[in-house]
Amino acid sequence: MSRMRLDRYLAEMGCGTRTQVKKEISRGNVNINGKAALRPEEKVDPDTDRVTFQGTEISYIRYEYYMLNKPAGVVSATEDSRDGTVVGLIGERQRKDLFPVGRLDKDTEGLLLITNDGDLAHRLLSPKKHVDKVYFARVAGEVTEEDKEAFARGVDIGDEKLTLPAELEILRVEKEAAAEKGAASEGMFFSEIRLTIREGRFHQVKRMFQAVGKEVVYLKRIRMGSLVLDEDLKTGEYRKLTEEEIRALC
Ligand code: URA
Repeated sequence: MSRMRLDRYLAEMGCGTRTQVKKEISRGNVNINGKAALRPEEKVDPDTDRVTFQGTEISYIRYEYYMLNKPAGVVSATEDSRDGTVVGLIGERQRKDLFPVGRLDKDTEGLLLITNDGDLAHRLLSPKKHVDKVYFARVAGEVTEEDKEAFARGVDIGDEKLTLPAELEILRVEKEAAAEKGAASEGMFFSEIRLTIREGRFHQVKRMFQAVGKEVVYLKRIRMGSLVLDEDLKTGEYRKLTEEEIRALC
């Protein structure tokens, strides 16, 4: 990796703002290879130089990759004045420039990749790449073979173009008593489905079901490209991606 300024190195690793780390350097609290650093603009090689900040060794981490099982109620953003954010859930994070790759609605759960690797995000989100996104949903209404065919052809969700062909699997259809599920009328149908789409339009899954007269009442993303939601992660939990997962995505 190429050499970089000492103050940038420390600020990126969460040691403080550029101003704060500059102060620490001037106080003699930063060492490079055992010797006090003299200036914030000194260059360090992240691969070979040993940097300590207030006596603690600070290794440089270029990219971080986390898989989050997003809970409902938090927003897919880095900052928000009202709600909690998905980045805020990553307590282990070191870098300040993490962001979610794509967005899930506030009430949607499931797989979200959180990273600072802009190139990877670009590749996964590029409309030209048609990366698979797989969702599990619970839908009010009876999802039918006709819906499956309509989704395979593409549906009109009010945009300029029809949606790209999507693969709908009907997992379960059942008639439920009103008392059990708070349904509006006795004996309403509910369906469980898996849907694979290759675009990422705003509220796409919900709007596709609206287009066939049904309402999504629960939505969870379970896969994005090669990345599959780890079933051991409870909602709100996260873990680092494995080397193999990173390699497969890249
Ligand atoms: N489609 C939706 O409608 N909502 C999401 O959060 C993701 C896909």
